[in-house]
Amino acid sequence: MRILSGVQPSGALHLGNYFGAIQQHIELQHQGTALYFIADYHALTTVQNAADLRQNVREVALAYLALGLDPKGPIFFRQSDVPEVTELAWLLSTVTGIGLLERAHSYKEKTARGIKPSVGLFTYPVLMAADILIYRSNLVPVGRDQVQHIEMAQDMAEYFNNTYGRQVFTRPEYRLTSTPNVPGLDGQKMSKSYGNTIGIFDEGKELKKKVMSIVTDSKGMEEPKDPASCNVFTLYSLFATEDEKRAMAERYRGGSYGYGHAKQALLAKIEACFAPAREKRQQLLKDLSFVEDVLGSNAARAREIARQTLASAREACGLISQHGGAGNSNRSPSEK
Ligand code: ADP
Ligand code: TRP
Repeated sequence: MRILSGVQPSGALHLGNYFGAIQQHIELQHQGTALYFIADYHALTTVQNAADLRQNVREVALAYLALGLDPKGPIFFRQSDVPEVTELAWLLSTVTGIGLLERAHSYKEKTARGIKPSVGLFTYPVLMAADILIYRSNLVPVGRDQVQHIEMAQDMAEYFNNTYGRQVFTRPEYRLTSTPNVPGLDGQKMSKSYGNTIGIFDEGKELKKKVMSIVTDSKGMEEPKDPASCNVFTLYSLFATEDEKRAMAERYRGGSYGYGHAKQALLAKIEACFAPAREKRQQLLKDLSFVEDVLGSNAARAREIARQTLASAREACGLISQHGGAGNSNRSPSEK
């Protein structure tokens, strides 16, 4: 089984990224062949400063390694080290109707937030489908906001296979965590673009300030409170055991338990949960050439898989394959 996922290097990673995506990437890293990449081509739709992009890529690499990615386990690489995906994106775009892309929630949501409606932003799902299909991925672990993109990749695989009468692409399926919708400080979805995040590596005063600013209702200290509708409780639940959750829910309902108390408990959980990763990150920062080597050496492994699939796709649509003859091996004897 091939497991694949990507994360955009578009800013500091936050609890939503961790509980919606990264946690399951780490959990699945030794099941089947896992491929995880830093989606730097995709990030160009929003990050258009070279120094920022390089810095963000480095931060994502550090974060994954610090959070437990086994450098000898999954194929962990930079998307742009495999430029074959951009060629496949072109092939897929020629069998994909504009209507499919016009239905993309993410495009509508991003342009509504003021992100420039570039051609790249519009065709973002085509490049994402190429990412998934070029590695013949079976399972794509993501947060809920990416589900529509995976469904589009399923559609594009089918359009291509049907158009050319060959099963070049495998149908990918998505996989969600049990927490695919982490709320931010203001109760909306936690997202870099809403400025409502708690960073995985936030610490000290900055972390405390953010936790204390989580929006709650205005119930006084003595009043009973509803855990189910409280952001602080939802965030606490990400870290707590069942017993701890039950205990906090009882305190909420019992009264004489203020939101300040709940925030302190949440703060302690966040600090404890990510302390080992913070330390590991500090160590990795002293050895950045190691981080670079992991990405560099894995790129060659990813590229080899990508070249083979691309050669089959080129072959299927009648382009002469120049990719090491892998396409030729798919020809029937009568075609040779
Ligand atoms: P952002 O919205 O901050 O830009 P990305 O779009 O880069 O985050 O998301 C990277 C991964 O993290 C995706 O798989 C996405 O589904 C997941 N993710 C992002 N925010 C959340 C959230 N609030 N809850 C759950 N998963 C999330
Ligand atoms: N669009 C994804 C995000 O914003 C990142 C991504 C790019 C991705 N290509 C992918 C995720 C392929 C899964 C599979 O989070």
